[in-house]
Amino acid sequence: MIKFISPTELHKLGIVGMNARNRRFIMKNNPRHLYPLVDDKLETKKLAKKAEIAVPELYGVIETVGQIKKKLHKILDAHEEFVIKPSKGSGGNGILVVVAKTPNGFVKPNGEEITHKDIFLHVSNILSGLYSLGGQLDTAMIEYRVKFSDVFSDISYQGVPDVRVIIYKGYPVMGMLRLATKESDGKANLHQGAIGAGVNIADGVTLGGVCHNKVMNIHPDTEKTISGIQIPYWKTILEISAKCQEMTGMGYIGVDIVLDKELGPLILELNARPGLGIQIANNEGLRKRLDKIDAVVGEEREVSERVAWSMQNF
Ligand SMILES: Nc1ncnc2c1ncn2[C@@H]1O[C@H](COP(=O)(O)OP(=O)(O)O)[C@@H](O)[C@H]1O
Ligand SMILES: [Mg+2]
Repeated sequence: MIKFISPTELHKLGIVGMNARNRRFIMKNNPRHLYPLVDDKLETKKLAKKAEIAVPELYGVIETVGQIKKKLHKILDAHEEFVIKPSKGSGGNGILVVVAKTPNGFVKPNGEEITHKDIFLHVSNILSGLYSLGGQLDTAMIEYRVKFSDVFSDISYQGVPDVRVIIYKGYPVMGMLRLATKESDGKANLHQGAIGAGVNIADGVTLGGVCHNKVMNIHPDTEKTISGIQIPYWKTILEISAKCQEMTGMGYIGVDIVLDKELGPLILELNARPGLGIQIANNEGLRKRLDKIDAVVGEEREVSERVAWSMQNF
């Protein structure tokens, strides 16, 4: 069944809109000078390493056009599979996932073959700022391709699902599992056509999903039910996410975590302006939960205590 959610319904649910998010939560809690820590994925990787939080291994970076010829082929030769992404990108733009090599080139998650030339052009586009925030010059990162856990094989189509957790003042507020679709081409971003499924904070079990703001409980490509799936390592995922508050000094962030088959939870990236679609995926607004946290903040709880509190309350 496909159902649209009306603006009146959203209001009743306590949905936080863009203006309120920016004014009340982002501007107040995320100091401007800290943005580079999360807007640049290379900086975030460094920060996570320092905090001893696992991230996908960085195979190399390309910073100049000259390095495309001199350095890129060496990095690509050394790995059968990899992901190339703009370090200042967002929304899944400019992310190229390569799952295999052929004698003449590379294979994308959807089976499409691409050549060395395509990859060189892609990296050159990244450097020119095609995918970066505000079109600023960018760096291309080449990293380990995460292999997702079997739990998700029925409900994510050829792409690594990621778990988005909103952390407010160090407390987990709301979670969403994002599932790749044929349309999203190996990426789990909602704007690329991925499905967002709400997650019960108390136990890490998925609720129903949405895709392009439409309710969707059956995955369109695998035809399997999206709700009722237990996300493994749930408490650890919440603890890693909550730790990111101390790690960045930011009071309102979206933490993206992926589960690798062998390596377990890895931080993919952090967002200082996390999208509001998570509310639709959870069929619940953020407002009440944020207010509830505001009422208890200041009691100086450790990460594990904050996580336990959220699991009890949400
Ligand atoms: N190393 C990786 N291995 C496999 N898939 C990845 C990797 N990095 C990104 N992806 C896919 O692309 C999506 C977006 O990646 P992310 O790093 O969060 O960038 P963005 O800022 O564009 O959202 C992820 O949700 C995931 O599905
Ligand atoms: Mg992301």
